[in-house]
Amino acid sequence: MTASKLLGALGAVAVVLNGCGGGGDSVETTTTTTKAPKPVGCEFTNVGNPPLDEEYKSPSDKATYHKYLADLDMEKLYDDIVGVMKTSESCWPADGPQDDDEASYAGLFGRLAWHCSGTLRIINGTSEGGCEGGRQRYWPERDWRDNDNLDKARAVLAQIKVMPAYQQLSWGDLMTFAGTVGLVDSGLPSAQFCFGRIDDDSGKESVMLGTEGIEDCELSKEECITHAPCQTSFHWPDQDPTDDPRCNLTQADGRQQGSHSVGLIYVYPHGPQLKASSPDYDETAVHQRSRKLSADEVRDTFKTRMGWTDQETVALIGGGHTLGRGHGNCANNPDPSKPCKGKYTTTAGYEGAWTRTPSKWNYDYFKAMLEEEWEPSQSPDGNDQWKTKSEDSDFSKTMRLTADLAVVTDPIYREWAVKYNEDFDLFNKDFADAWFKLTHRSAGHPNEKDLEDDAKKCTTFEFVKRAAPKVQFLTDAGISHTTGSVWGNNNKVALVGVAGLMSFVTMAAVFRRQSIQSTTPEGLEMM
Ligand code: HEM
Repeated sequence: MTASKLLGALGAVAVVLNGCGGGGDSVETTTTTTKAPKPVGCEFTNVGNPPLDEEYKSPSDKATYHKYLADLDMEKLYDDIVGVMKTSESCWPADGPQDDDEASYAGLFGRLAWHCSGTLRIINGTSEGGCEGGRQRYWPERDWRDNDNLDKARAVLAQIKVMPAYQQLSWGDLMTFAGTVGLVDSGLPSAQFCFGRIDDDSGKESVMLGTEGIEDCELSKEECITHAPCQTSFHWPDQDPTDDPRCNLTQADGRQQGSHSVGLIYVYPHGPQLKASSPDYDETAVHQRSRKLSADEVRDTFKTRMGWTDQETVALIGGGHTLGRGHGNCANNPDPSKPCKGKYTTTAGYEGAWTRTPSKWNYDYFKAMLEEEWEPSQSPDGNDQWKTKSEDSDFSKTMRLTADLAVVTDPIYREWAVKYNEDFDLFNKDFADAWFKLTHRSAGHPNEKDLEDDAKKCTTFEFVKRAAPKVQFLTDAGISHTTGSVWGNNNKVALVGVAGLMSFVTMAAVFRRQSIQSTTPEGLEMM
């Protein structure tokens, strides 16, 4: 059933088509709501971005929610998410084809789960934020620039939320599970997941976590704190004083501030700009972003503000950036009268994938950074990033952010990067463990095992292992061969085919995927 048929069958809501970043023309074709939906992309957007939340409300008391979870078919939910993940919607085409890979929302779902969970702060031993509450749907989180285009991810996922079997599933569980499904289905060899996140009724609890997001504040005037830079901030000694300042952790107004007013979960991807008197300043370079200072920022954010060890930090960034890509290619849009989407999308403004197979789990991330020389470059949209010095490199089509190169520049981070490049099993395990910790801690359940103890509804994705008897791997030379199972395999992995037991939905997803591959790079709605 297509998204629109399903929507129609449910007798629901409004259909809104639009381009990138909330801009561009919007065409409202039907509406039965009292409040006009926001012009932000695909159908179902208003399910992932209330006001229509009430229709699909998850129980707010634990006992009722746990009762619902007891009957939840996790394998079916997995299959249904995979089906949606591999069906490119023309309103917001899935990535992959522009990097010679298959169409998949795995990267987008991964970023959704990460940005929802990455609000966690440990302040004086107390946890604040986290994905429980599902507050990214609401003001202010949905307006944070960090979360740009994640309304599209929620809109795609809302196709799951409106299915009768999942209407009671919480958004907190859905977003974190979808991110994990993306990783597992793309080939991450092991993972575990526990359900039990209770949704909040508003985004109020996130007000103290950042300064952004007042454009459509739904609270009283007094409660809507203005869109403003943080009150107290500082620069690194070697940083250009005109460059973005860093926010002090604790602000006078009581906010528990991220490291910037905004900046992709609180680290500016392009890193600090060096001042001209710095010994590392190179006036011949395209930009003056410091990998060393960026490492200081990453450590300050991940260790001091979020409570991650250096080892976990390296595993998390490496695993997170194995899938998906940056979007900064609106400038190349051949027809400026058309919205920037698909291969011409702009989200954060950096352009390109980190690895050669951004829709499939692989081990390129550290290898390319350790073995290649990287030089300053700019995305088509003008953001500072890095490219391989050698145009003949196997990795010449990939890019790095300054914050990526930080993990091979700082000596302690680099030790872990080297270990992960030598031992893929260690990388897989450390990333899976860190991802579990990332997605399972929140103010409501501060310890990573709390959800398991509370709701007792967990999976280690055994059903996927059983259903994947045959997979193919890409070797360094790009030659593929078939092996028994991806699970537990230590190899240069790129999962390119899965056969065996598949549910109807997954089968359908595979057929749809084959169709997608034969369409234009921007993809088409194929259902
Ligand atoms: C130093 C910390 C980090 C920085 C500066 C950073 C920055 C970025 C940027 C700029 C993008 C591109 C967004 C866009 O234009 O679409 C991105 C994408 C992404 N990030 Fe990160 N990130 C960081 C850490 C992480 C972590 C820890 C994870 C997960 C564990 C993660 C997962 C992802 C994923 C999956 C995408 C791909 C999104 C897509 O394909 O649409 N990132 N990140």
